[in-house]
Order: sequence, then structure tokens, then C-alpha cells
Amino acid sequence: MFAARQTFNLFQKRAFSASASQASKVTVLGAAGGIGQPLSLLLKLNPRVSELSLYDIRGGPGVAADLSHINANSTVTGYEPNTEGLHAALKGSEIVLIPAGVPRKPGMTRDDLFNTNASIVRDLAKAVAEASPEAKILVISNPVNSTVPIVSEVFKARGVYNPKRLFGVTTLDVVRASRFISQVQGTDPSAEKVPVVGGHSGVTIVPLLSQSGHASLAGEARDALVNRIQFGGDEVVKAKDGAGSATLSMAMAGARFAESLLRAAQGEKGVIEPTFVDSPLYKDQGIDFFASRVELGANGVEQIHSVGEINEYEQKLLDACLVDLKKNIQKGVDFVKANP
Ligand code: 2OP
Repeated sequence: MFAARQTFNLFQKRAFSASASQASKVTVLGAAGGIGQPLSLLLKLNPRVSELSLYDIRGGPGVAADLSHINANSTVTGYEPNTEGLHAALKGSEIVLIPAGVPRKPGMTRDDLFNTNASIVRDLAKAVAEASPEAKILVISNPVNSTVPIVSEVFKARGVYNPKRLFGVTTLDVVRASRFISQVQGTDPSAEKVPVVGGHSGVTIVPLLSQSGHASLAGEARDALVNRIQFGGDEVVKAKDGAGSATLSMAMAGARFAESLLRAAQGEKGVIEPTFVDSPLYKDQGIDFFASRVELGANGVEQIHSVGEINEYEQKLLDACLVDLKKNIQKGVDFVKANP
């Protein structure tokens, strides 16, 4: 009996040290919001997450208490809405997801959210730079084309910027593209792979249908599909009729991206996700951030892929994208310079 227990304890210790080496603390800033709650739920269900840390300006502890009853191994902690709570939530995080901020109402563009969300993201970025500068940061708060540069400026000013660890989540554009193309073509959406490059707003969203399995799509059908992918978020804003924008599908997209980063951090090779990162691709045109297919590794960005071969139609979409993207990025940079 005694020997059996000793053996069991030894096994437990081994099992513990094996899983401890893969321990992953994941923090959600804005955890009680429309995206934050389903995102936190999906992260609670992810066995790669060992510690789930939830912060919001209200409601974090409540969401944490609720999720903590789910019979998955991870711990869940909700932190008090003050500076101490925020820093405790962040300390030791491997991944920080930021869905905090306000959503769109019908008729608004993502850029219309700038005035409110820019300062929210800036202040959270300051806390991340102080409490967990090594974390991989996943920005969901809109307008992503501007909020990602805001985070980078905050980190640069504090001398802790690592471009390999900052990501704008554009996964929902890829998710929508595969779903929408499957509806047109009558195929299985989970098998559809459509690269989407550029940014995360209107015409900056550039689907590359020529690189999907449906390169022959042309004419009105192609125009309609491209438009739906670019403005898919508006469908949800309109249908929710003042109650916000995409929360559930965005949570799924954010959780998928976090899962990809965790897989890469835990040694899996060849993990590729399109994401909006500090990118060399169009820097010669003054565009420092761009979404393209990025291979993820233990330290974050491993390799940034170019857009590849595109046709004339897509080149026109890309040209329009770059014009807007440049302005959106500059707006974020200027905001931090004027409001450090
Ligand atoms: C969307 O694409 C909320 O930006 C998000 O719907």
C-alpha cells in the first residue's frame, strides 16, 4: 500500500513537472465584455492554457468565478479593476489578448472607434510594457490598423518593443473568407483556405481568391464575394442593431490565433496564420505594419511570407488597401506621440 502510494506520488510529480514546463498563463484584458466572455470561455476549454487571468474595468472576478467551475484543469483568476489588479493579472503572462474597448454601432466604421479605443489600448499597453514586457500581445480592439501601432509606440518609448511579439488579430477575416466562399461554391468551409492580407478594416482587407481553390471565380460573383469578405463585420453590426459588433465569431478567431501561438510555443513546426504584424513587405512605401501569412515559432513571429503571386484585380485591391493602411497606421503613431 505504502509502496504503491510512493510510486503514485512519483508519477504525479513527473506528470506535474512535464506539464509545468508547458505552463501557459494567458491573460484577457477586457474579459467581461462582448468578445471577452466567449473568448475567456474558449480559452478555459483549451488544455494548453494552464492559468487563465481575467481583467476588466468591471466584472472580471464574476466571469472568473463562473468559468472556474468548468471541470478543466486550468486555474482561473479574476482581478480587481485597479492598477494593482491589472499588474497582477499581467505578471508572468505568455500571451495577453486585448479585446477591451467599445464596439461599433450601425453606420460606424472601425475608424470611428478611434477616439475612444485609442486611449484604452494605450493605457493597457503601458501596463503590459511594465508588468509583462515579454508577453505575446494579441490586439483585437478596433481599429486594429491603428491600435497595433499604438501598442508598438508605447513599447518603443519604454525600450521594450519586440516586433516578433505583437500581433493584430485578423483571423476573423480568414474565417469569414472560408465560410463565405463555401456558401458560393457549395463546399466544406473548414476545408477552404483563402489567404487574406492587408489590414482589418473595409478595403484594407484583401482576400486573395486567386490563391484559393477557386481561382476561376470572376465577374459579379467575385466582386460580391470580395465585398462581403471586406465588409462582413458590417452585416453583424447591422443585425445587432445597436447592440454591438461581432463578438462570438471574433472570440472564436481570437481563441484560434492564441491556440496557434501556443502550439508553436510548445514546439510544433509549420504553424502559419495570417496576422497584422510589423512587416518588411511595404516598409519602402512607409507602411510599417501589414497582415500576411506568418509562420509562428517559440518567440512569436518566425517568418513573414510575402503576398505571393497575385492577379491584376488583386493588385488593384492591394493598391487601395495600402493607401488607407498608411493613414490608419500613421494615425495610431501620431496619437501616441501627441498623447504619450
Ligand atoms: C469584426 O470584424 C469586430 O472587427 C470585428 O467584425
